[in-house]
Amino acid sequence: MKFFVDTAEIDAIAELNATGMVDGVTTNPSLIKKSGRDILEVTKEICDLVDGPVSAEVVSTEADAMIAEGRKLVEIADNIAVKVPLTWDGLKACKALTDDGHKVNVTLCFSANQALLAAKAGATFISPFIGRLDDINLDGMDLIADIRQVYDNYGFETEILAASVRTVNHATQCALVGADVMTAPPAVIKSMINHPLTDKGLDAFLADIKDAGIKIL
Ligand code: E4P
Repeated sequence: MKFFVDTAEIDAIAELNATGMVDGVTTNPSLIKKSGRDILEVTKEICDLVDGPVSAEVVSTEADAMIAEGRKLVEIADNIAVKVPLTWDGLKACKALTDDGHKVNVTLCFSANQALLAAKAGATFISPFIGRLDDINLDGMDLIADIRQVYDNYGFETEILAASVRTVNHATQCALVGADVMTAPPAVIKSMINHPLTDKGLDAFLADIKDAGIKIL
């Protein structure tokens, strides 16, 4: 499973990138607002830092305007994926931009039917939002599993980009049900390493290293 980092914070992306954990980045208008940066400027910096796809979201709601914005966004760098909302206008923009040869991430997906439509429109990525379904007492992970089955039934190549990942358990479940990609905030990815037995085991080894005076260099 590929890991995308769901942030527009350059330092956080750079820190994880140094460990090989960054296969791509996703941003959205809320994350751009949080960064306090200009969208074109910060997106360019992210693209310079990361080799994989960097999702940048359009801000219009009408297809022709989305297409024009998408064509401007892809001028930033070769690794831009234009993010469009899951509306009919968004799907029209998705088809036009993918026909141009650009990567498109269709976002705000909350049903398997929506994911089916996005795949037929040629989406590179579909972004089902797990956490926001959990927020309304539905199981977001069921949606990932349903989309996996639908796409596998018909051989769609659209990648399932599990989004709105809020917990380390979401990460495990995404991998188990076969999401192609998970996008998660840096804090969630960093928490995936935690295990008390690792800490306890290392403490014991360090005590023995000290007692025995073990040195390598
Ligand atoms: C990513 O593409 C999404 O915009 C993001 O994962 C949404 O997460 P949230 O529901 O925690 O805001």
